[in-house]
Amino acid sequence: MKRRLKAERRGWFNRVAALALVGAWAAGPQATAAPAPSHEVTFDSHSFLIDGKRVYLWSGEFHPFRLPSPALWSDVLQKMKAAGFNTVSIYFSWGYHSPREGVYDFTGIRDIDRMLDAARDAGMYVIARPSPYINAEVDSGGLPLWLTTKKLNNRSADPEYLRYADEWLTQVDRIIARHQLVDGGGTVIGYQVENEYYLNGEDNRTYMEHLKQKARADGIQVPLLGNHDGAYVEGKGAMEVSGWDFYPQGFDCSNPSVWKPAPDMARSRKEGEPLFTAEFQGGAFDPWGGPGYAKCAELINDSFANVFYKSNIAAGATGQNFYMLYGGTSWGWQAIPQNYTSYDYGAAITEARQFEGKYYEDKRIGYFVTTTAPLLRTDPMPSAWLDDRGLIDIARVNPETGTQFHLIRHADSTSTAQSSARFSVTVDGQAITLPQKAGTTLAINGRQAKMIVVGYPFGAQHLRYATSEVMTAATIGGRDFLVLYGDRGTAGEASFRVPANAQARVVRGAVHSEIKDGQLSLDYTHDGLAEVVVTGGERPLVVLLADRQATERIWRTETAAGPVLMVGSHLLRTATVTGKTLALVGDSDTDKDAIVFGPGATAVTWNGASIPVTPSGAEDGALAVTLPTPAPVALPALKDWQARDGAPEIAPGFDDHAWRVADLTTSNSITNPLSHPVLLADDYGFHTGNTWYRGHFSGAGADVPRGVRLRVLSGATGGAFSAWLNGHFLGSVQRGDDGTFPFPQGWIEKGDNVVSVLTVNMGHEEDYQSRNENRTGRGIAYASALGASDHAISWRIQGHAGGEAAMDPVRGPYNEGGLFGEREGWHLKPGALPQGKPVTLPASEQAPGVTWYRTHVALSLPKDQDTSLGVEFRDPPGRHYRALLFVNGWQMGQYVSDIGPQHSFPIPNGVLLPQGDNTIDIAVWKTEEGPGGLGEVSLVNYGSYKSSMGTPSSRR
Ligand code: GAL
Repeated sequence: MKRRLKAERRGWFNRVAALALVGAWAAGPQATAAPAPSHEVTFDSHSFLIDGKRVYLWSGEFHPFRLPSPALWSDVLQKMKAAGFNTVSIYFSWGYHSPREGVYDFTGIRDIDRMLDAARDAGMYVIARPSPYINAEVDSGGLPLWLTTKKLNNRSADPEYLRYADEWLTQVDRIIARHQLVDGGGTVIGYQVENEYYLNGEDNRTYMEHLKQKARADGIQVPLLGNHDGAYVEGKGAMEVSGWDFYPQGFDCSNPSVWKPAPDMARSRKEGEPLFTAEFQGGAFDPWGGPGYAKCAELINDSFANVFYKSNIAAGATGQNFYMLYGGTSWGWQAIPQNYTSYDYGAAITEARQFEGKYYEDKRIGYFVTTTAPLLRTDPMPSAWLDDRGLIDIARVNPETGTQFHLIRHADSTSTAQSSARFSVTVDGQAITLPQKAGTTLAINGRQAKMIVVGYPFGAQHLRYATSEVMTAATIGGRDFLVLYGDRGTAGEASFRVPANAQARVVRGAVHSEIKDGQLSLDYTHDGLAEVVVTGGERPLVVLLADRQATERIWRTETAAGPVLMVGSHLLRTATVTGKTLALVGDSDTDKDAIVFGPGATAVTWNGASIPVTPSGAEDGALAVTLPTPAPVALPALKDWQARDGAPEIAPGFDDHAWRVADLTTSNSITNPLSHPVLLADDYGFHTGNTWYRGHFSGAGADVPRGVRLRVLSGATGGAFSAWLNGHFLGSVQRGDDGTFPFPQGWIEKGDNVVSVLTVNMGHEEDYQSRNENRTGRGIAYASALGASDHAISWRIQGHAGGEAAMDPVRGPYNEGGLFGEREGWHLKPGALPQGKPVTLPASEQAPGVTWYRTHVALSLPKDQDTSLGVEFRDPPGRHYRALLFVNGWQMGQYVSDIGPQHSFPIPNGVLLPQGDNTIDIAVWKTEEGPGGLGEVSLVNYGSYKSSMGTPSSRR
């Protein structure tokens, strides 16, 4: 439903604004832990401005609630920063902080202060999105679990809803407010009101106006942003900056090479506001049984970033937020019914915190947009003439510097044709055709866009033009640097204004250079890294010519003494200069050689330890350094498993007298019809995971059921339920809601009989359309006795132990459901599994039911190294089971052997102890009769680097 609406709402247009305003620019906040002075956040038609300086918001979405190791938040933020991101957009999920009505928790993994401090310390601006409704493929779209039983109208001016929403906003705004850039408390520069809200009646506008006023009353002073895609652009409840929401490829990852056209963002421009995507596609989510996140990463790959993100730049966008930049894990029961545990999203940084290919494209573009000042204030200009009709140029110009930005790509942005062209532009007042060198052309591959820069002043230099793309320019230690790049094996040329006495020297690589008439011309083939040093001008110029692969290992970071460039290492996180020492912090792999260009340093440390330095002796001031390499990682096998029965509820003699009697006669659920009494789990306070039902009936008398008909709502296709009579298996239903189970002759006892039903709530629906869909029923919606009155069976119900009142105070409201072992807290108690018996995997069980497995694994992974591990399931064919994976008590995955596609579950360090004893519990619900049970389980290593992140051993 949502997907269709998304396609329809693309048709909104706005006119192009062209307001001339002047300003400088800023690359991002300075990383500092000390309180900063107050600042001003403003905007105009061209860009956001911070203290009057223009800033390109290169932003990525990150959800702290999907990474339950706060020590790793900095890791993700630093990795974003290293790719040129200067902003992080963060949803805050109401339900994550409110386990029950009136209770709010911002401690431990839910510590928003810590999150916002981490963003400040990483030098990132923040767009805060507490909504109250976030969607985000999270249970109830972020509405709290306890709201599933309230009679009110979500996302409206209903006073009852507003009372609760205000309660949340009061709590979260109080924290956000103290981290605003404007009063020096932090780096929050924008605040989003609601999320994708399209309803437009008077009541809806009143609601939006209310939220705006609430934010202001709560002390939010930064601009109020939208993500409403054409709604709330003007009139009552309108946002200050609209914020556009584009997912041009949609969410079906199964045909990743099928592209849809790049949208023209310029149509969304609103006069007086910068063109800003509150969300632009950075990946896609994947459903149960879907093709898997590798395919989503292919659908939204580096070529997609290349064509679509650059097309947005060409349309004049100066703020782009990518959803997701790091997706993470919908751990516990946070996922919506449609999605499985991983929320990797095919994003630039994988769930296991590794770099996907798109990360480097984001970096190439990110460095360009955040360090190329003239890009921040541009107007459309006429296109260049091109000799290939299949190609187009979308051009912009900065009216002050005259800098031109030509985006050359296929007119049909989905085209896979390999093209090459010559094109005409005006350089220094003269029309010239590029490339100038005879026999060469500008190569444009299928699904590629190139941003050609003409007339660009940087430092004390002036680039006339380049057919290579600009990655970044920097002034370091009295020298100007320009990094240009192109595809390996393709021709490139660049031309600079230089003084008459200039001299060029090729320091590395093969480059032809010529100085004539005050112009330096370089021509070359992109191949690894070449370098040319030009002297004789006001300052030396160092030109680095990289091929695309080489750019992956080029890093830029800022210090108080100016920028640093590094060529080499897996990752450069931060740099600081103290006297003559340059302290670098980052991650290294097995390639130990790197070159550093730093401001006047002669000594270098890497993660705190001195490393060998050899000055190049050349005019470029380079230091060759040798980095430490990581130690190999050997993973222990997971063995010595123990197992025990995990479903005593199946046995007729199980004592359920303390269970809640199902006796409610009314429900606020939107699900109909309901049995009487109501059997829906939420109404009894059981909101997460598995819920058991036991229906008792007498085998004597006239009203004896001959079977039972059940409608059980798990949500979407990933759900299931199983039923037993007096310990005999009646059957399971997967991929459906309805089951009819006749009671075989001979199974009915004369006295008490028990039907045991195991159900699962796969998550509550989102409420994208404001129809209270989070109140769709879960558990038994309908139970009818066959051949007897409905009163013949009386039901008891048991889910999460203690219901809402007893949610895990450390792990929060989504960690557990109502399996016997969860209710007993087995997963929270390390040591031997109570009554566990040794077992080897793959297991060979026969009967359907629940078996609880446990093993321990002691890890002593190399120190000062960041190793990302996970748990992987491998099954012999034909096994039918569902498993909950607990690591040290944290429910980090739900595995369904016959639906998939997820087999591999990343476990963040902090949840997993890389230098400690770990307890792994797996609760297996075997849904079918016959040989089966838990398959093979092992640890998997997603990547290991020598790193400042080391291996956080503390959970919080
Ligand atoms: C957006 C929405 C997000 C998320 C996304 C799809 O439009 O605002 O919360 O649901 O779609 O992943």
